[in-house]
Amino acid sequence: MESRKRTAPTTLSVMTEQSFTPPLTGEEMMAANPYRPWSARITSITPLTEKETLFEMRIIDDRVREAFHHHPGQFVCVSIFGVGEVPISISSSPSKSGFIEICVRRAGEVTTALHNMQCGDIVGLRGPYGTPFPFEEMKGHDVLLVAGGLGIAPLRSLINNIHDQRSEFEKVTIVYGAKTPGEIMFRQQFEQWSHRPDFDFYLTIDKPHPDWTGHVGMVTEAFKTLEVDADNTYGAICGPPVMYRFVVEEMAKKGISYDRIFMSFERHMKCGMGRCGHCQIGHQYVCLDGPVFNYWEAKNIQGSM
Ligand SMILES: Cc1cc2nc3c(=O)[nH]c(=O)nc-3n(C[C@H](O)[C@H](O)[C@H](O)COP(=O)(O)OP(=O)(O)OC[C@H]3O[C@@H](n4cnc5c(N)ncnc54)[C@H](O)[C@@H]3O)c2cc1C
Ligand code: FES
Repeated sequence: MESRKRTAPTTLSVMTEQSFTPPLTGEEMMAANPYRPWSARITSITPLTEKETLFEMRIIDDRVREAFHHHPGQFVCVSIFGVGEVPISISSSPSKSGFIEICVRRAGEVTTALHNMQCGDIVGLRGPYGTPFPFEEMKGHDVLLVAGGLGIAPLRSLINNIHDQRSEFEKVTIVYGAKTPGEIMFRQQFEQWSHRPDFDFYLTIDKPHPDWTGHVGMVTEAFKTLEVDADNTYGAICGPPVMYRFVVEEMAKKGISYDRIFMSFERHMKCGMGRCGHCQIGHQYVCLDGPVFNYWEAKNIQGSM
């Protein structure tokens, strides 16, 4: 009978120097499959208005969390298992490390599912994606930020980042318009800041309202009294599509160079990283070349202004 040679069972496995593969870094893990959503825990939920809620999220894997760095104006794709995935701007400053905040309007299936989630629930996150605002280039200059409605979500990341490095910037003016007082997001934060001498804040609602004693009218009304040092100012705009043309016009009338007017756009997206062509307009991919464009780039995007 053939005898089978038996080897002594052992728990020791000898590794040569060559066979040792170091664990992947967070960057390598993310690059290995860019479509992979990473599990993130919802760590806080703050209702802002009837339709918008602020979610704070923390990527669970330590290495991926440490490798995740965003810039103001970038977005993530947020997935909910069994429901779908949506692109959402990051609303927190990059200096808030370990967590990101997103401000989400209940619009349809995925965003409603997210609104129904609780603290501790798990979502999928991939990103960050997109071309951000030119934060470093803006340093040493005045910055005029104009937001309408939900447009404050991506601009808040820029505003908070400027706040964290306030001494690097000259005059900072924030113009924010909402339809009604009840639709103003981050009202408490902005009301506190409106008393600070290093931020000029202009908050307005579209039409008179019994609960409102502040400015009334469109964001463009603010330009009647704004003093702008045209040669030294960068503009940043985000809001409903109808707003862009009028705000750009007002900025240009004040003498701000078109090269220095930046705006963030939303378009229907799928991959978020320039691979599927879903967001393509002409030769531009809004997910990759944007969502932040300067005036000249934006001018060529059909329906942008
Ligand atoms: C770069 C980027 C950043 C965004 N940032 C935010 C954000 O910070 N907060 C936020 O609440 N939303 C943001 N959105 C919009 C968000 O992605 C959509 O509201 C979401 O995809 C709707 O998905 P849903 O399944 O809930 O609704 P659906 O049933 O898919 O759609 C509901 C309604 O929203 C419209 N819609 C869907 N997708 C988009 C889109 N990409 N752009 C415009 N309208 C859309 C649909 O046409 C429909 O009328 C952003 C979109 C992009 C492209
Ligand atoms: S969303 Fe796929 S290419 Fe832009």
